[in-house]
Amino acid sequence: KIKIAVLISGGGSNLQAIINAIKAGKINGEIKLVISDKKDVYGLERAKKEEIHNFTILQSDFSTKKQWNQAILQVLEDYKIDLVLLAGFMSILDKEIVKAFPNAIMNIHPSLIPSFCGKGYYGKKVHQAVLEYGVKLTGVSVHFVDEGADTGPIILQEAVKVKQEDTVESLAQRVLKVEHKLYPKAVQLFTQGKLKVEGRKVFILE
Ligand code: GAR
Repeated sequence: KIKIAVLISGGGSNLQAIINAIKAGKINGEIKLVISDKKDVYGLERAKKEEIHNFTILQSDFSTKKQWNQAILQVLEDYKIDLVLLAGFMSILDKEIVKAFPNAIMNIHPSLIPSFCGKGYYGKKVHQAVLEYGVKLTGVSVHFVDEGADTGPIILQEAVKVKQEDTVESLAQRVLKVEHKLYPKAVQLFTQGKLKVEGRKVFILE
């Protein structure tokens, strides 16, 4: 079984979707650990309820971002993690962590990359920007993490229509529904050994 760590900063509905897919037998893996970079978020409650080991590692408890990253890396290594999932994790990891997990860190982003992504575009801000721009299509992207912000090889994408009457909230909800389907699918493909990365491209093997 593949040993998974999930990194969160908030509600953890994507964490829940992964938990549910494992329970349903769709993912041959085990969540060994949940790390939050925010205190008392609801995602931590979800981990506790499932008796998953969980840690809160705050950047503010370290004098440098590098030290904070090292603390996270240490835990990932202690638990012999194979796959790291960023699920609503709102910080950017240092290259030391990225290098330690080549094509083994995934992120989910609530837009069609390369639109509305990168530094400054996270969570509800993405949907706000989508509505302000007036695009008719947005969506979900799951990608491998490289050293940039939302720049790594794209694994899966799905479009979501923007409605005239959408608010940030209604759009976020509709996009989340697709996220909860796409993220478990990407993890399933990974655990089945069906993802092959060549440069920027991810090939899905039959
Ligand atoms: C999700 O929409 C996720 O795609 C987004 O934050 C939300 C977290 O929800 N992530 C980012 O914006 C990362 N840059 P959740 O905590 O309920 O999974």
